[in-house]
Amino acid sequence: MVGALGRHLALAGFMGAGKTTVGTKVAELIHRPFVDLDAEIEARHGPIPELFEQSEPEFRRLEENVLAEALAGPDSVLALGGGAVLSPLNRERLKERAFTVHLEVDVDDAWERVRGSNRPLARSEHEFRRLYESRRSLYADTAEAAAVDPEGVLLAALGIRVGRGERPAVGTAALIADERVLELHPLEVDGETHHVPAGEAAKSLDVVERLLGELGLSREGTIVAFGGGSTTDVAGFVAATYLRGIAWIAVPTSLTGMVDAAIGGKTGINTAEGKNLAGSFHFPQAVVIDPDYLRTLPEEERRAGIAEVVKTGLLAGREVWSLPEDEMIRACAAFKAAVVLSDPYETKGRRAILNLGHTFAHALEAGSSYRVRHGDAVALGLLAALRLSGQATDDVEELLRPEPVEADLDAAWAALKRDKKGEGVFVLLEAPGKPVVTTVSDEDARAALSALIRQ
Ligand SMILES: NC(=O)c1ccc[n+]([C@@H]2O[C@H](COP(=O)([O-])OP(=O)(O)OC[C@H]3O[C@@H](n4cnc5c(N)ncnc54)[C@H](O)[C@@H]3O)[C@@H](O)[C@H]2O)c1
Repeated sequence: MVGALGRHLALAGFMGAGKTTVGTKVAELIHRPFVDLDAEIEARHGPIPELFEQSEPEFRRLEENVLAEALAGPDSVLALGGGAVLSPLNRERLKERAFTVHLEVDVDDAWERVRGSNRPLARSEHEFRRLYESRRSLYADTAEAAAVDPEGVLLAALGIRVGRGERPAVGTAALIADERVLELHPLEVDGETHHVPAGEAAKSLDVVERLLGELGLSREGTIVAFGGGSTTDVAGFVAATYLRGIAWIAVPTSLTGMVDAAIGGKTGINTAEGKNLAGSFHFPQAVVIDPDYLRTLPEEERRAGIAEVVKTGLLAGREVWSLPEDEMIRACAAFKAAVVLSDPYETKGRRAILNLGHTFAHALEAGSSYRVRHGDAVALGLLAALRLSGQATDDVEELLRPEPVEADLDAAWAALKRDKKGEGVFVLLEAPGKPVVTTVSDEDARAALSALIRQ
């Protein structure tokens, strides 16, 4: 099981941690129902202070029933009452049916938020602090991850960790590493090491065949992918197919990898017919992001990553590119995690928004026989999408400075039509933060494409 995929996402934590506020926001972002256990109890049985007054054991029994019912329903975001984890039965049921995140809060902040409320256990500060201490370890033991805000919950829900010095925690593993990256950043795991060529060359059937032959892991083993998006794509694909699928962990080292490629379970390789034409959905158990690896990333690779950051900012309606680097990466990774959680296997159309600007980008890459770099093509693609949307292009122009490129318009147009399978559907923006999947006439699309090509 990977994070909250295919199971409930439960938030546990002390009174005042913000479970309702954070839960409501997360549920909206990942398109799941939100169930507030306390509100549910009150709706059915009356005010909690009164229920508590009458009999705490009886209240706990009602709480158990309401939780069991919610867990039997469709995958949701659940805000648990502060004391729900006291019940061994609840803890067991949560373990079976939910991914539980401990929403942490400082005791002083919690007290500030709840003092003066009518919560039965928040009447005396002394008692409140005592209770906080006594419950803390219970939350930590029940939960599989901890967070303090919506972004943290979203990241945890897909097993993503962001932080300087973060390293994958694995037992026996096989490291599959971009050879150049491994030279720059020696990473050791307990087990075998396999090299793949630096960059896109790794995404080939030959490399997959070699790795499948070399690997000596059992079904319980784990593959650790270490490199940019090319490495995580190929290593994830190998993990999906070796012995019919084993666990893997992604350790992205490029900006594109950290904000995009390593997140979301899409793995794949290129074939003679084109990019990413063979692949599989196979979610990594964990994505371990250490922004420190970026210090050796070549400038042009960084620019390519920034193009994805700008795409994310446009989709999220937030100037994520202005944030300090670590926060920027965290925000982008959390945004992608939310979109992915809302549509993990691309069956509901929601993941499609992540293609903003990419339809034009792929067309330019193909129309230039892949001489145009992906990052430059994405920058131009975003420009075209914004123009077709009637939205301001200033941010893209200032941040990415896209310049028209040499490409064959007819070849690019043919590639675009192929990419769209003749549907004429594009991702545009009604406003920053409001992506729409809509049709564009051939005439407008071709004119937008043409404007990206040097005449
Ligand atoms: N699976 C997905 O959802 C998804 C999403 C976006 C992109 N992708 C794929 O990701 C690939 C692009 O990813 P990428 O831009 O990370 O490219 P990449 O993996 O090809 O790496 C680009 C270059 O950067 C080097 N590099 C990486 N990290 C480095 C570091 N820390 N220091 C020095 N050099 C470093 C690599 O050796 C390589 O030469 C494409 O194949 C694309 O299809 C996949």
